[in-house]
Amino acid sequence: MASVIAPRLFIVAYLLTLAHHFVLGEKQYTAYNYGFDVHRRVRRQFAQPSTMIVMGNAATQAGDVQVRREIRELEQDREVWTLYLLGMSMMQFTDQSSPTSWYGITGIHGMPHQTWGGVRPTPGNEETGYCTHSSILFPTWHRPYLALYEQVLSNVIRMIATWWPEDQKQPYVDAAKRFRIPYWDWATYPPSGGSVLPMSVGGSPFVDIDGPSGVQRISNPLFSYTFRPLNTTAFRQAPWNTWSETLRSPTNWGPGAQSNNSMVAMTIDQNQRSLSQRLYILFSNYGNYSRFSNNAWIPFVNNASYDSIESLHDTIHNLAGGGGIGQLNIRGGHMSFIPYSAFDPIFFLHHAMVDRIFAMWQTLYPQSWVTPTTAVLNSYTTARGQVQDSRTPLTPFFADANGAFWTSDSVRDFTKFGYTYTELTDLASPRKAQAGVRRAINRLYGASSPANMFLRELRAQGIKGGRGRGGTSRAGQQSSQHSPAGGVASNMEGAVEGDSYREWIVNIRAKKQALDGPYSIYFFFGTPPSNKEDWAQAENHVGTMGVFAADGAGMGGMMEAMKELEVSGTVPLTTGLIKAVQGGELEGLQPEEVVRFLRERLVISVLGPEGREFGVSEVKGLKLSVGSFRVRLPGSEDELPVWGEEEGTFDLV
Ligand SMILES: *[C@@H]1O[C@H](CO)[C@@H](O)[C@H](O)[C@H]1NC(C)=O
Ligand SMILES: *[C@@H]1O[C@H](CO)[C@@H](O)[C@H](O)[C@H]1NC(C)=O
Ligand SMILES: *[C@@H]1O[C@H](CO)[C@@H](O)[C@H](O)[C@H]1NC(C)=O
Ligand SMILES: *[C@@H]1O[C@H](CO)[C@@H](O)[C@H](O)[C@H]1NC(C)=O
Repeated sequence: MASVIAPRLFIVAYLLTLAHHFVLGEKQYTAYNYGFDVHRRVRRQFAQPSTMIVMGNAATQAGDVQVRREIRELEQDREVWTLYLLGMSMMQFTDQSSPTSWYGITGIHGMPHQTWGGVRPTPGNEETGYCTHSSILFPTWHRPYLALYEQVLSNVIRMIATWWPEDQKQPYVDAAKRFRIPYWDWATYPPSGGSVLPMSVGGSPFVDIDGPSGVQRISNPLFSYTFRPLNTTAFRQAPWNTWSETLRSPTNWGPGAQSNNSMVAMTIDQNQRSLSQRLYILFSNYGNYSRFSNNAWIPFVNNASYDSIESLHDTIHNLAGGGGIGQLNIRGGHMSFIPYSAFDPIFFLHHAMVDRIFAMWQTLYPQSWVTPTTAVLNSYTTARGQVQDSRTPLTPFFADANGAFWTSDSVRDFTKFGYTYTELTDLASPRKAQAGVRRAINRLYGASSPANMFLRELRAQGIKGGRGRGGTSRAGQQSSQHSPAGGVASNMEGAVEGDSYREWIVNIRAKKQALDGPYSIYFFFGTPPSNKEDWAQAENHVGTMGVFAADGAGMGGMMEAMKELEVSGTVPLTTGLIKAVQGGELEGLQPEEVVRFLRERLVISVLGPEGREFGVSEVKGLKLSVGSFRVRLPGSEDELPVWGEEEGTFDLV
């Protein structure tokens, strides 16, 4: 129910603020006016080279580890929230030539392909950014990147806190100490009546702030970043050289485009169940770092493990930027294109979530780590074909004043940067820590998982009440709130055998640039609705995989490598199959019945750039197969399902 109401509330609020925006015409919201020239002070403070050494908060508060909170939770902490918005705004209004300005920090990732901290590109890689994608270093490279951003923002915030009048400043000075960057949990159920996309991020282009000089209306630093100035030499191609601020789900591809955040909110809400299922499976079935970490398809590594944290992360980029799943005729905004994505303020919220997932995963699988792997894409300092390992420098992130860089090994313990996550605070013993993480995973992401549906049903029948203490499980409670499936197992002959049941998954391999732009592969049971606009919400829609690609212009020096790059991903089918049984379309969940049903009824269609439909055979290099796994049900809320080997695989294409 919540997911139906949520987008409407979001749209109403969003339209109200936009109406206000248009009434004001071309009025540009500004920075906070502190009553003196703040930028002179900021420049003086950050001119020292030491501000470019990444220490996180450890530099100023050694040993002080604070929790990174979910953005909605941070919003409840009034002083911290005020400082957070003022700090981001300050970074965004700092001269773009400063390496610690918003432009300087976000420009490390991709565009404008400029040197940061004097770390030069290796020959032939001048036209790329420093970020490592489809690489074994994907999760570890982004860790010191976030720590750098957190450090710069914290420094700014600590300074701002001292600008309140003497008798008011103490709460802000204290708040600055507990500030850590927030993450945005895009996989959990949003608070009732809300969208997965927080109002603070997409609801309004301005925000009223009660700062050191009283309440003022300023430009909302979470809504977009405005380039000051837009560098049309660096951003050579349209539309990037015509858009003066970052856009989400742009209303068109021309110079006058606006963000449509209500479209973003709606499509993310439609995909939330699938995102949370994929995350739940990553936590329970991807215990090997090589498989978990990145989306590159590498024969022998990826067999039976097509998904990855990077592939799931790609889907969020497409949903937040627009032009992805469920958005026909819309080409994406900044977040949908790797080289431009980091400028959008939602980027760091998203990546803090990715880092949190990685940190939780590390707690569950402490033995598995970076193994030497050949790079399939180049970056500013990496050539294709080069072997990357746990000691490869994560450029341009300096670890000390002598020019040494952080490495995957040295960022493995992230608490040295002065942060942790709520789920990881119970570190008394590794076993307790793991149990705490599993409980959190069940509570936050378990509800849509078939494992929890079966478990609930078995408990209701009194078959499996013993170990989990029946309905007292938090996973169970959340499931019954949100899950559509009542009475799952009663007509599920053959689904559950003893302690286990069977999961069905489509495995997908695709060439990233097959259609020269982002595309989505849709799966239905039976014929899709004739109107493509209705596809994502259709009753018989079982899932979609989005491929995060680039247009030719956006790829720069990665073009050649991107053309050959194969990526992989998955679409879970089990929940859809359960629905088909409940709807009387499918007799039962015996493997023979399921295979026959899938062969007869599974319809696959591809939507390419601008909503053009393609048959599967028209997409070069697309390979699809179905695999099944026996999965052992968790015995308590401290456990995750245990996945067996992949069995009974058959090819679709
Ligand atoms: C704009 O970008 C070009 C090319 O990257 C660079 O040489 C120039 O300094 C930039 N101009 C400004 C004002 O930043
Ligand atoms: C924004 O998206 C919504 C769908 O969520 C749509 O109804 C509306 O027309 C769009 N607005 C613009 C200006 O395109
Ligand atoms: C993995 O895939 C490769 C081809 O991509 C195949 O040759 C190999 O036999 C597979 N290995 C397993 C264990 O399935
Ligand atoms: C993880 O997968 C890689 C690649 O298949 C393999 O070399 C490595 O041994 C695996 N690690 C573990 C702990 O199984």
